[in-house]
Amino acid sequence: MPNSFYLKDILSIKEFSREDLECLFKNADKIKSMDMKEKIEIAKGKLLGFVFYEPSSRTKISFETAMLTIGGHCTGITDTSTSSIEKGENLADTISTISGYTDAIVLRHPLEGAARFSAEVSNKPVINAGSGTEEHPTQAMIDLYTMYKEKGKIDGLKIGIMGDLRYGRTVYSLLYALSKFSTKISLISPQELRLRENTLLDIRETTKWDEYEKVEEIIQDLDVLYVTRIQKERFPDPSEYQKVKDSYFVDKALLEKASSNIIVLHPLPRIEEIRHEVDSLPQAKYFIQAHLGKDLRSALLGLLFNADL
Ligand code: NCD
Repeated sequence: MPNSFYLKDILSIKEFSREDLECLFKNADKIKSMDMKEKIEIAKGKLLGFVFYEPSSRTKISFETAMLTIGGHCTGITDTSTSSIEKGENLADTISTISGYTDAIVLRHPLEGAARFSAEVSNKPVINAGSGTEEHPTQAMIDLYTMYKEKGKIDGLKIGIMGDLRYGRTVYSLLYALSKFSTKISLISPQELRLRENTLLDIRETTKWDEYEKVEEIIQDLDVLYVTRIQKERFPDPSEYQKVKDSYFVDKALLEKASSNIIVLHPLPRIEEIRHEVDSLPQAKYFIQAHLGKDLRSALLGLLFNADL
C-alpha cells in the first residue's frame, strides 16, 4: 500500500492520522541519516512550484532547500508584483498554468479556502503553506517533530500555546495535530485573542485544555511553551491591534519561574514576544525548530513523490 502522503494534497492536518505523522517523523530521521548520493535519488527529475501571495522566509526557503537536498528542483512565483497576478490574472488560471509545468505546488494565500479551491483546479498535488487564518499544516508537522526530537515523545506533554490564538493559523493546525495525541493543553492569551469557538468544538472529544489570560498562572507546570506573533496584518480594525500589542512576552525572568526542562517554541517570525535575551538560553528551541523544517519537509516531499521511500 502506498504511504498516505503519496501524490496527495496536503490541505489540512486533520486529514492525516497519528500513524501518518509518526511515519513522517521516521522518514525525516531516515533521510537525515542517508548519504548525499542516496538523498538526491529521492526527488530526481521532480519540480516543485511555488505560488506565494504572502511573504515568507522559512517556509519558502526550507521547502526549497528540502527539495534540492533530495535531488529535485524548484520554480514559481514568490513575489506577485513581478508576475501576471499584478495584471489581474486570477488564482485558478495561475494554478492551472503552474501545475502544468511542475509536479506539485506549494501555495500560500491570504484567504481561507484558497488551498482547497486550488487543489480542485490543479492536476498536481497542492501543499497548503498557509491559507488565511485557517491552517498551516506543514508547520504543525514541524512543531510536533520538534517536540518529538527535543522531548523524545509527544504523549504526556503539558503544552502551553500563547499569543494570537484568534488569527494565527499555525495554532489551529497545531491543535488539530495535538488532538491525535494525548497531551494537556493550556491556551494562554488576552481575551481579545482567544481561540475561535468552532475549533474548541472540533477538538472537544479528544483533547483536554484550560484557558489562561496570563502565562504566569501556568508557566511552572509546562513542558513546552509555544509562542506566536500577533498577526497584525489580519486584524480587521487597527485599533483592535493597538489594544493587544505588547500584551504578552517571554523573557529570562519568566523562564526562571518555569521548570528547567521547559522548551520554548515559535513558528517564527518573532517580533517582540520573545525577548532577544532568551535566544542564548538552553530553553530556546525556535531556531532548531526552523532548521528541522528542512528535514521534515524533505520527508514530506519524499513521501509525496514516492509510494515507498
Ligand atoms: C507563520 C505563518 O505564515 O503563518 N510563519 C511560518 O510559516 N513559520 C507564522 C507567522 O507568520 O506568524
